[in-house]
Amino acid sequence: MRWNPRLPRGGGPVYRAIADALEADIKAGRLGAGDALPTQRDLAERLGVNFTTVTRAYAEARRRGLLDARVGSGTFVAGAPNGSAASTAAVPEETRDVDLSVNAPPVPAWMGGALRATIESVGADGDVVRQMLTYRTRRGDAMAREAGVAWLRGRGIDASAERVAVTGGAQHALALLLATLARPGDTVLVEALCYPGLEGSAASAGVRLVGVPVDEEGLRPDALDAACRRHGATLLCCVPTLQNPTTAVMSLARRQAIVDVARRRGLRVVEDDICGPLLQDAATPLAALAPDVVTYVGSLSKCVAPGLRTAFVLAPSRDDAARLDAAVRASVLMLSPLPLAVAASWVADGTAARAVADISREAAARGALARALLGAPNVSAPAGSIHAWLRLPSTWTVAGFVAEAQQQGIRVTPADWYVRPDGSARPAPVPNAVRLALGSAPDRAALERALRALAAILAHEPARRAPTL
Ligand SMILES: Cc1ncc(COP(=O)(O)O)c(C=O)c1O
Repeated sequence: MRWNPRLPRGGGPVYRAIADALEADIKAGRLGAGDALPTQRDLAERLGVNFTTVTRAYAEARRRGLLDARVGSGTFVAGAPNGSAASTAAVPEETRDVDLSVNAPPVPAWMGGALRATIESVGADGDVVRQMLTYRTRRGDAMAREAGVAWLRGRGIDASAERVAVTGGAQHALALLLATLARPGDTVLVEALCYPGLEGSAASAGVRLVGVPVDEEGLRPDALDAACRRHGATLLCCVPTLQNPTTAVMSLARRQAIVDVARRRGLRVVEDDICGPLLQDAATPLAALAPDVVTYVGSLSKCVAPGLRTAFVLAPSRDDAARLDAAVRASVLMLSPLPLAVAASWVADGTAARAVADISREAAARGALARALLGAPNVSAPAGSIHAWLRLPSTWTVAGFVAEAQQQGIRVTPADWYVRPDGSARPAPVPNAVRLALGSAPDRAALERALRALAAILAHEPARRAPTL
C-alpha cells in the first residue's frame, strides 16, 4: 500500500500534520486495519522532510493508537482511532518489556541491605570465613539442618534434624527424589498441569511423568486412584498449596482424601510446598497429615529469594534423609557455603520470616490488582500467590493472546507449557489460559500498566491483519 498523505498548509509542526493526515485517512476509510505504511525513509523522501520528523510522526500516531509496528516487518495501521475497533497494540511506550513469565518473588527493597550486613558479619569471624572457603564442615551442616527444622516449624511441622536434608533449591531436591524414590522405567504421577522443570529431571532419572486430572482444588483423588490402578505407579509429586500454574489450594478434606489414596495404594508422595508459606489462609501440609508417606520439600526461592538456592527436605525417616544426603554429595559434593550461611542465619534471626510476610503482603496486593483489572472470575490469584492463572475468553486462543501480549512487550506463559499427558489415547484439551508471574514485574506501577495492556487485549477481538508479502 502506497500511502500518500496530503498535508495541510499552514502552521503547526509537520510531524503532527503527518499524524493528523493518517488519522483523517483512517477515519475516512482510505486506510484500514492491517494496511502497511511506507518506511520512514521512503515517506521522508516523498514528503521532502527530515527522517526524524517522520519518526516523530509515527511515534505520535502510535501514541494515539493508530499504528502497530512489528519488529522486522514494518509499520501497519492498527485500527480506527475513535476506539470502536482500537488496536490493542496501541499502548504507552512505558508498558514495554514487562516480563510476567519468570515466577520470581517481589524481593523487598530492604533485602539488599540485609544481605550486605549478613555477609559482613559472617566475614568478621575468621573461623567462619575459613569454613566458607573449604569443603563441608560438621558445623556448617548442623547449622543448615537446624535452619531446616526452624523453617519447618514455621509451617507447623515438628521435625528432628536427622530427618532433614538440605539441597540447592527445590529443583535439586525434586531431581534427586525422582532418582532415589523411583527406578528407571517407573511411572511417576504428577498434576496434569504442572511445573515444567520436572520434565528434565524425570528424563535424567529415566522415569515417565503421567498427568493426573485436576479440578479447582488441584489433584482429584478419584483420578489419582484410577491412575495408580492403571499405571501401577508408586510415586506422586504434587503441589497441594498454590499449585503452579493453576494456583489451586487443596482443602483439608481434599488433602485427607489424597493421603488416604496414597496409603491404600502404597504410593509415596513428594509434597512440593515451594509457595506454601506465602498463602495468607494457612493450609496444613500433607507432611503434617501423613509424615510416614510424604517427603516434604520447602524452598526459600519463592518465599525469600531464589538466589539463595536453598531448600529443606523432610524425609519420612532418618534413613531416607541419609539417602538423600548421599545423593546431594553424589551430585554436587556440597552446597556452596556462603548462600547457605546467609539462608541459615536469616532463618535463625527472623529475617526469613520477615521476608515471607512482606512478600506475601505484596503478592496479595498484586493479586488484587490482577483480579480488579482483568476481571475477578477469569483470574485465580489467592491472597499471597506470586502467580495468577488467567482464563481467556473464547475470542482468544492461547497462542494468539501470548503473541499479542509479546507484541506489546509483555511476556506471559501459555497453558501448554504445563501440560503433562495422562497416557490415554484421548488426552484432555489444553485449557485456554495463561500464567502470569505477578512477582517479576519490577514494581506495582509497572505491573499495573502491563495488566491494563492485557485487559485491553482481552476487551477486543483479535485483529484480522491484511496479509503482507
Ligand atoms: C512448583 C515448583 N517447584 C520447584 C521449583 C524450583 O524451585 P527452586 O528455585 O527452589 O529450585 C519451581 C520454580 O519455579 C516451582 O514452581
